[in-house]
Amino acid sequence: MSDDVLGGTWRRLPVVQQPDWPDPEAAHQVVRDLASREPLVTVDDTDRLRRELAAVAHGQAFLVQGGDCAELFAEAGSEAVDRTVGVLSGMAGVLTTALGIPVVTVGRFAGQYAKPRSNSHEERGGVVLPVYRGDAVNGARFTREDRTPDPRRLARAYDASAATLARVRTLRASCYTSHEGLLLDYEAALLRRSPDGRVHAGSTHLLWIGDRTRQAGGAHVEFARRIANPVAVKLGPTATPGDVRTLLELLDPDGEPGRLTFVTRLGADRVRDLLPPLAEAADRPVGWVCDPMHGNGRITADGRKTRAVDDVLAEIDGFFAVHRESGTHPGGLHLELTGDDVTECVGGGVVEANLGRRYTTACDPRLNATQALGLANAVAARFGAVPA
Ligand code: PEP
Ligand code: CO
Repeated sequence: MSDDVLGGTWRRLPVVQQPDWPDPEAAHQVVRDLASREPLVTVDDTDRLRRELAAVAHGQAFLVQGGDCAELFAEAGSEAVDRTVGVLSGMAGVLTTALGIPVVTVGRFAGQYAKPRSNSHEERGGVVLPVYRGDAVNGARFTREDRTPDPRRLARAYDASAATLARVRTLRASCYTSHEGLLLDYEAALLRRSPDGRVHAGSTHLLWIGDRTRQAGGAHVEFARRIANPVAVKLGPTATPGDVRTLLELLDPDGEPGRLTFVTRLGADRVRDLLPPLAEAADRPVGWVCDPMHGNGRITADGRKTRAVDDVLAEIDGFFAVHRESGTHPGGLHLELTGDDVTECVGGGVVEANLGRRYTTACDPRLNATQALGLANAVAARFGAVPA
């Protein structure tokens, strides 16, 4: 691969969850092409988000981050984007009134095209194919053609992200973008050095490191360490207080609020036990955000992935309670949601027997607009605000 403006330090470290391109030379070519493109976001906007996330770390603002688990190229720049932004804005309106502080909205979009997976392959009816890793890598349909990784998809991911960003700009909703910084060749190709010498990821405003790629000696953390964007790290049930301290030292060595946000996804039944030692391990102000989705997945009797809105709300309740007791700030919510009328999560009018009606996610089940706004109202009600 061509080197990057960071000098490629991360390339010398162990890296997980990268695609196995059948034609590595074709991948090199795409990466070289991406390196010549315009960054997708501006340094000014990225720096402004970092300042707003500093307010989140200090308890003076609240983050609402959400969007698809896996975005689809087919929906890039479409009305689906308007609907997602609409849900985020609606939630922000409810929560800013209830909490009495500004709400910062960040989409899980314009780049959320790569997924970490637990298994490399999937079997259906005796046929074994590579697992779907997001539209930036392969296609979701269960055919050999779709599932074979194709590096030209990296360029399509850039184009799709640009289309969605253009659409968001027309909405004038002041919504930032974010995605999981998983595919390091893609992210490295979009690094740009600004005149003041800092290096920014040009792919998005906020980049996060997933629970599967947050190893202290690994390439993803090293990559995040070297960029000036605000970064987030997901913390699942295996995260330890030592991990929190190490990640703070690596990613926020100067103790600059807004630089690092921890997104905990511990599960409704474990958050009250697992979160206190993590929150108390932080020796400097850092953002604490609740992802109440990824610790609450379950499989229905007919084999569908779902989540119950009640479990989502229970994890949020635990998150607020723990931070209140720990003297830390509950800084926001990170949700998988869509403005489309899907039936993927149970609750808010969707029963398990009806999940098949409009189950369209390419990866994890999302809240629909009714469920997401219902959740915001339920959280608001906890603060004594009467739901609209
Ligand atoms: C995700 O956000 O879709 C995801 C894979 O999350 P995590 O890294 O927390 O498992
Ligand atoms: Co997901």
